[in-house]
Amino acid sequence: MSIHIGAEPGQIAPYVLIPGDPLRAKWIAENFLEGAKLYSDVRGMLGYTGTYQGIEISAQGSGMGLPSFSIYCTELFKDYDVQSVIRVGSCGALQEDIKVRDVILAQGACTDSAMNRLRFEGIDFAPISDFELLRSAYDVGEAAGKPMHVGNIFSSDSFYNDRAELVSRAAEYGVLAVEMEAAALYTLAAKYDRKGLAICTVSDHIITGEETTSQERQESFGDMVEMALETIVS
Ligand code: ADE
Repeated sequence: MSIHIGAEPGQIAPYVLIPGDPLRAKWIAENFLEGAKLYSDVRGMLGYTGTYQGIEISAQGSGMGLPSFSIYCTELFKDYDVQSVIRVGSCGALQEDIKVRDVILAQGACTDSAMNRLRFEGIDFAPISDFELLRSAYDVGEAAGKPMHVGNIFSSDSFYNDRAELVSRAAEYGVLAVEMEAAALYTLAAKYDRKGLAICTVSDHIITGEETTSQERQESFGDMVEMALETIVS
C-alpha cells in the first residue's frame, strides 16, 4: 500500500482514468467498467479497477488542484507502476469560439502553481501531453463527430482569485481553457517516463459567463469518459 492509496500491488491497472471528484470515479466504475472492485477508500478518495472491452482499467479520484492531484498521480506512477493516466475533468473556456460542452484536448499546460518552479528551481518547464495518447484521443473524437479543440490550457492552483487580467492575457496568447490539474499530470508523466493526457469538457465559459446545468455536466462527462476509454483500447 502507498501512503494515500490503500491498494495492494497489482490491484491497480496499467491504465487509469482520474477525475477530480472521487464520486465520479465511482460513477465511471459503475457505468463503464465490468466487474469493478473498490481498491481504496482512504480519505474518501475512491479508486476502482474493472475491465472495458476486456482491458483492465482503473478509475481513481484525485481531489482538486495540483498539490492534491500530484499526491495520487505520484503514487500511481511510483508505487503501482501505472503506465498511462488520462485525466477526465471539467474546464472553463477562454476563447469565444469554444462552446460549453465542447471537448478540450490539452496539448500543453501552463501553470501558476509554485510546484514546478520549486521542482525546477526557477526554470520554466513546459508540461506537454503524450503525443500518442493525444493523437488517439483526437482520432476517437473525430470519428465520433465531437466538437473538439486541441491546444494549450492553464492549470491554476486557485479556483477563486483576483487575477482576471492574468487569465485574459493567457487568452490573448491562445490558451484555450482553465482547469486545475493537467500541468501536474504532464510533469509527473515526464519524471516517471509514463504517458499522460488531460481531456476536459467545458463546464463554464469565462468570457460569456455561460454555464452548463448539472444534467448537461453529467452527460458530457459520460461522453468524455467513453472517449478516454476508447482512446485506451484503440
Ligand atoms: N474547472 C471548471 N471550470 C473551471 C474554472 N472556471 N476555473 C478553474 N477550473 C475549472
